[in-house]
Amino acid sequence: EIKNLEEIFDQKIARDEKIEPKDWMPEKYRQTHIRQMSQHAHSEIVGMLPEGNWISRAPSLRRKVALLAKVQDEAGHGLYLYSATETLGVSREELYEQLHSGKAKYSSIFNYPTVTWADIGAIGWLVDGAAIINQVPLCNTSFGPYARAMVRVCKEESFHQRQGYEIMLTLSKGTKAQKEMAQDALNRWWWPSLMMFGPTDDKSTHTAQSMKWKLKRKTNDELRQQFIDQTVPQAEILGLSIPDKDLKWNEERKSYDFGEINWDEFWQVVKGHGPCNRERLQTRVNAWENGAWVRDAAMAYAEKNAERKIK
Ligand code: 3HC
Repeated sequence: EIKNLEEIFDQKIARDEKIEPKDWMPEKYRQTHIRQMSQHAHSEIVGMLPEGNWISRAPSLRRKVALLAKVQDEAGHGLYLYSATETLGVSREELYEQLHSGKAKYSSIFNYPTVTWADIGAIGWLVDGAAIINQVPLCNTSFGPYARAMVRVCKEESFHQRQGYEIMLTLSKGTKAQKEMAQDALNRWWWPSLMMFGPTDDKSTHTAQSMKWKLKRKTNDELRQQFIDQTVPQAEILGLSIPDKDLKWNEERKSYDFGEINWDEFWQVVKGHGPCNRERLQTRVNAWENGAWVRDAAMAYAEKNAERKIK
């Protein structure tokens, strides 16, 4: 019996058909989607913190409005992805508990501090730029709810990337101090942005299987290379230099060769010892605990409303 179900599942994947929540799926397929999708959702929610830090410090009303809209979008992406994850039979409460207890991972990139306004430009340009490269292929991922969530998310990400690049353009064409601030932000955010794509393919636990299941449509190294090849020309337009002395155009490969990533730093940050890990998690736990009364009030109001409707 299972043999048949497995065959039907494999044929659907082979035909690029979407797997829907009610369809039979291998337990490992379910588990790896709960893992990746919940980490993706956690990343969106935690990602609001470094950016949110600058909403009250934005240099103009226009910058403040754009940053507010971006942070609000990230919240929406997170809730969208939590809903998509719940279709796999896991509750929202369980997912939050996994994050707050430190059990769940979220993207390493959000464990770095945002020390100047230029960081907000670098995050939009590099972090959202990397997120777009990573998320566009996910619009074709085999699990239906995840693919559909990604279509909506990608539309909003391009605005995030553009507003970040415009901040970097303004600074790099500004005063000497502004250009130095932009260069300093690029120096600090370049390598952590490359780490967003995960370990190299040969060291990646999940890539091979995720490619077979068409969860991933491109590997970590392919996406990282695409990001570098797209971003280096943008840095040249900004007149900023990429902090990698080994970065060099490779005519044969029609791609940039680049230096060795500091994988010790990557694993330190992933394991919770990055510059801001403790602070980010504590902020999330505080928000969850201090916000409990809002959730209770909303539930009480909804129940009272429901009773009124029945009468
Ligand atoms: N940060 C934290 N953990 C990471 C990581 C990173 N940058 N890259 C890899 N890892 C973890 C993996 O989760 C895995 O650990 P686990 O088995 O406990 O889950 C381990 O390192 C091995 O890595 P793999 O490459 O084998 O893991 P994946 O196949 O899951 O690939 C990934 C990692 C490329 C990040 C993939 O999970 C993915 O594409 N996720 C969806 C996209 C996403 O999460 N983007 C980052 C969020 S940025 C964002 O969207 C916000 C933006 O709007 C600003």
